[in-house]
Amino acid sequence: MLEREATIARVAQVAISAMNGKCLVVNDWAHQIHVPQADRWNRFAFQRKATSMWPQGEYDHILIRVHIEKTAMEMLVHASLQCLHPQGTLWIVGGNDEGVKSLPNRLQALIPEMETVDIRKRCRVLRAKKPLFPLELRAGLEDWWKTEHFLERDWKSLPGCFAKGKLDVGTELLLKVLPKCKANRRVLDYACGIGVISQQVRANFPEVAIDGLDFDLYAVESARKNVPDASFFVSDGWSNLPNDRRYDLIVSNPPLHRGKSEDKTALLALISESKKRLYRQGSLVLVVRRQLPVQRMLSESFHRVELCEKTNHFWVWKAKP
Ligand SMILES: C[S@@+](CC[C@H](N)C(=O)[O-])C[C@H]1O[C@@H](n2cnc3c(N)ncnc32)[C@H](O)[C@@H]1O
Repeated sequence: MLEREATIARVAQVAISAMNGKCLVVNDWAHQIHVPQADRWNRFAFQRKATSMWPQGEYDHILIRVHIEKTAMEMLVHASLQCLHPQGTLWIVGGNDEGVKSLPNRLQALIPEMETVDIRKRCRVLRAKKPLFPLELRAGLEDWWKTEHFLERDWKSLPGCFAKGKLDVGTELLLKVLPKCKANRRVLDYACGIGVISQQVRANFPEVAIDGLDFDLYAVESARKNVPDASFFVSDGWSNLPNDRRYDLIVSNPPLHRGKSEDKTALLALISESKKRLYRQGSLVLVVRRQLPVQRMLSESFHRVELCEKTNHFWVWKAKP
């Protein structure tokens, strides 16, 4: 996964060497793009750090590392143009398979003159001056909220959040198991997204305290709106969750990718740390793709491992210490 990010950083060199004055690097979640003295803005918490909700300030150069989701990328461009000095330069770097090739067309109305300045290793670097005409920017988070309807209610979400405002099929399968679970004190929704599982936990266990964590600031912000009486943490894996929190149920539809690359770090952390975080009678319930050797992974840490639900593509596992 970091290999891709390191390649992107090497291709970005043409931008990096031209950047001077006050600079901002946007969406380089892996911290691989090094521009001397530059500020950084990122919606994803990296290890322990998360940034502000929206980039602030005025910059001479801004370099955006492409976000693969189209509207989320568009949002980054609007936010960056808002922070760009009138004579400033916007740079964009990303892989062809992340949509960088079609960006000049997609952004034509906002930035008519965007040039491709380097093409290497199936990546591109784009450059544009800040357009002179008055820009109609959607210049704050409040301009990007959407409301979706599923599971017989409305859900608030921001661009780039998981499942694009739909109910994910893996999540749907996990929700079937929830009524058969036990919880009377505290439940954790690990990698909570916009809070779909948390909300169903609330419906099934009206009295329990609910914690949710996600490394995406915007997912957490959405979850806070969707399940106002739960506590949500912006956290890369367990890193920002209070150490003393214990649970009688941990539920998760864990991430298996980061951008286009497969990445099981958060799943492995979920399995290895859950045992310590559960009360003795507690359980971990997770849904994963059928092919993943999760039974073996779970058996290394847990005494009882049981398959609760399955479809052709997804399996729901329950594990007890
Ligand atoms: C498969 S989605 C599940 C979302 C939600 N629970 C649902 O079922 O709709 C996985 C979530 O994991 C989050 N995520 C990815 N990597 C993470 C990490 N290292 N730490 C915490 N959350 C992470 C993503 O932002 C995404 O919201």
